[in-house]
Amino acid sequence: MRGFLIGSALCAVLAVMAFAGQSKAPTPDKLPAGWRNWTHITTGVIYSEKHPLFGAFGGVHHIYANAPAAEVYRKNGARYPDGSQIVFVLYEAKDVDGMYVAGKKKVTALMVKDSRRYRQSGGWGWQAWDASGKAIVNDPVGQCMGCHRASPNRDLVISKWTP
Ligand code: HEC
Repeated sequence: MRGFLIGSALCAVLAVMAFAGQSKAPTPDKLPAGWRNWTHITTGVIYSEKHPLFGAFGGVHHIYANAPAAEVYRKNGARYPDGSQIVFVLYEAKDVDGMYVAGKKKVTALMVKDSRRYRQSGGWGWQAWDASGKAIVNDPVGQCMGCHRASPNRDLVISKWTP
């Protein structure tokens, strides 16, 4: 009887854990090696409080895409195939005598397309790492998708190819 009670209590706990685990979409756990050699898509500088994202995203950012994603960018396409990966890397904007250059790295963010694994978060896996390498996304739908949903016709991708 006692074993049965402990057993059922354990089952209940495991069921709750499984349920809690499902309520948040999964996230990629590693920044892919070699992203720095991918195709450069575009660059932006958020340099003043005139921009609503200055607090969180102030600085110089570059966007890089792997080969399948870069091809879609070039064509301004509407769908990114599974296997597409895009990196957004943000640096402090360092003012060197009136020239902004990339200073210390602040954040590296990643989108990975895998329509099955990441079906709960628009078919994309979302993660970002701070300067110390710590992963900062545990709720991709809540933390990442809000702004990206504004780009439904380009598969949630906001940036555009700079020729
Ligand atoms: C406050 C709005 C906002 C939030 C929240 C946000 N992003 Fe973005 N993100 C943007 C904008 C705007 C761009 C395009 C920047 C450009 O065009 O240079 C972008 C671009 C990107 C890109 C390059 C691909 C693309 O869509 O252009 C990646 C990768 C990315 N974000 C990842 C993330 C991740 C991961 C999160 C969650 C931690 C996140 N973003 C949350 C606004 C946001």
